[in-house]
Order: sequence, then C-alpha cells, then structure tokens
Amino acid sequence: MIFRQLFDSVSGTYTYLLASRPGGEALIIDPVLEKVDRYVQLINELDLRLIKAVDTHLHADHITGLGALRDRTHCVTVMGEHSKVDVVSMRLTEGDKLAIEGVSLDVLYTPGHTDDSYSFLMRDRVFTGDTLLIRGTGRTDFQNGDARAQYDSIFNKLLRLPEETMVFPAHDYKGETVSTIGEEKRFNPRLQVKSVDEYVDLMGKLNLPNPKMMDVAVPANMRVGFAQEEIARRGWAMSAAEAQALIGRPDVTFVDLRERTERQKHGVIPGSLHAPYPDLIANVKPGGMLHELAAATGRRIVFYCAFGERSAMAVQAAQDAGLTAACHVQGGLDAWKRAQGPVLH
Ligand SMILES: [Fe+2]
Repeated sequence: MIFRQLFDSVSGTYTYLLASRPGGEALIIDPVLEKVDRYVQLINELDLRLIKAVDTHLHADHITGLGALRDRTHCVTVMGEHSKVDVVSMRLTEGDKLAIEGVSLDVLYTPGHTDDSYSFLMRDRVFTGDTLLIRGTGRTDFQNGDARAQYDSIFNKLLRLPEETMVFPAHDYKGETVSTIGEEKRFNPRLQVKSVDEYVDLMGKLNLPNPKMMDVAVPANMRVGFAQEEIARRGWAMSAAEAQALIGRPDVTFVDLRERTERQKHGVIPGSLHAPYPDLIANVKPGGMLHELAAATGRRIVFYCAFGERSAMAVQAAQDAGLTAACHVQGGLDAWKRAQGPVLH
C-alpha cells in the first residue's frame, strides 16, 4: 500500500495520495493548486497512474488542484452530490464507495463545517476533511455551516467508528499529522460537551476572522469543470436531444464510460456498450476494442458518462487516436435524463 501525507504550508492543508501498489491506480484527496507540479512529479516517481482527484468539500482557504490535475493527468474529478461546484466527473453520496484498483473508501456524508462536507473511511483510517480536526473541529460560521449538523456528523457518525481508527484531517496548523477516534473522543476540547446545545453555543462564540484567501478561493473552486464548450466548438459534441434521435441507429454505438456502480445506481442508455474510463487510452488506440470496432463497422462512437466530463476528455483522446467521427453527449446522463431520454435499469 502506498500512502503519502503531503503538506501545503501556506494554507496548512494536508493532501493524501493513495494507491495499492507501484504501477497501479492512484487517488488524491484535497489537492492544492500550487502543489500540483509536486504531486505530478511524485506520482511519476512512484510509477503511479492518477485515476481520481477528490475534494472533501468546497474549500475556502486555498484553490483546489482538481481542475489542474484533471488537465495534466486526465483523471476523474470527484465531489459529493451536495457540492455547489459547477461540474465534476463524478458525484458521490452517503453509502457510495470511492474506489480505484485495490483501494475502496466508504463515503460518509458529514455536513456541518459546510453543507457539502464528506469523510472517507478506509478500514483503519478516516479522512475527515474539516469536519473533525486534531483537537479541533472545522468552523461552522460560513458556507452554509451548521454547528448542529456538525455535532450530529461527529458524534453520531465519526465517533462511532472503532477507537483505534486513525484520523487524517484536511488541515492542521500546529504540525500534528494524525490522531485516532479514541484520542479525539477523550482529548478534543470541543468534544467535551454535554449536549448539542452546548456545542452550538461553543461554536457560536469562536469569532474567527475569514480566511485570507476566501474571496478568491470560493469563486475559483466553484468552477472546476472541463471546457466542454471547447469540445462542442470543434463539433465533437451533441446535445442530449440530438443524441436521443440516434438511438437504435445501426451506424452509431453509444459507449458508457462510467463505473459499474454508477451504471447500477443511475441506469444506462439502452443498447450502449460499457468501456470504463480508466481503460480508455488502451481502448481507443489502434488494436484497442473501440478503435477496432469503429474500423471494422464504420460506426460512429458516441461517448457518454455522468456529467459529460469524462466523455469530453474521451472524445479528445479518441480524436487524437484517429477516431475522427467520435463525439459525446454534452452534460452526460444527467442532461439525458433531464431531456426525458430513455434509461434502462
Ligand atoms: Fe474547509
């Protein structure tokens, strides 16, 4: 198992890099824009392939590295379904798994610091974002923060994990790197309260100044979408309505880039082929499944995914590999459903 805790000293942010083995798929949690070069270098040095970049919540104190990592590595961007970010490749909710090859994290919805705060549990450790910090908790006085919800997230979800579970937060300002659930239960001063009202009262009296970066970081972090407009400008996109008219046509193949779990949960476009996004490059190059399919049948490949992010990147890769008829459904299955497209469960 590869596990790295990386630090941005300007914002006091911890970023985590996870992979199950060298040469394997990697996942990064809470990357910081200014550190993207360093992450990419480390990923190359460790011979990893970055598959997913996830933010625990919409950060107010630094600009996320999600968009830059996606542009550099073509990874999938991930956030919770409550996030107000414009568009990410994949949205998760409580009970989902955040998975790459050999690594699977349980998704816990832990609102309170913000209303889009999530924690990720991996067997012996939990990534708590700004919900539970080491000897502290994330402030609840902006971004739809709610001390009552945070109390519930901490006391009724996180503190119910086994006491030896390691706690890896998104921030620390004193140089602490890791704690445990048991330790925080006993020694976190904010958790020594007798009731939710006492906690709400305590959080209401903190009087913290706003983060220095807030006015820059929040608007920047709301816009991390891939330039789907640019793909459309090149003529490689179709609207959900246009795509629906092609259903059942013998000269068109719809290709679903999502994961098996997303297909089960949200359904599929009838008659579509499944070719998961992490295998895309292998599939579109000469000799690859999709390349040969297009060559042998002359069919036009129409990619789709959840929100059009993965499929927009796939079109670019397919075009680069010589599949000049490839295009994608702009806005993905989300737009397809809003346009009343048929979905198979
Ligand atoms: Fe935060």
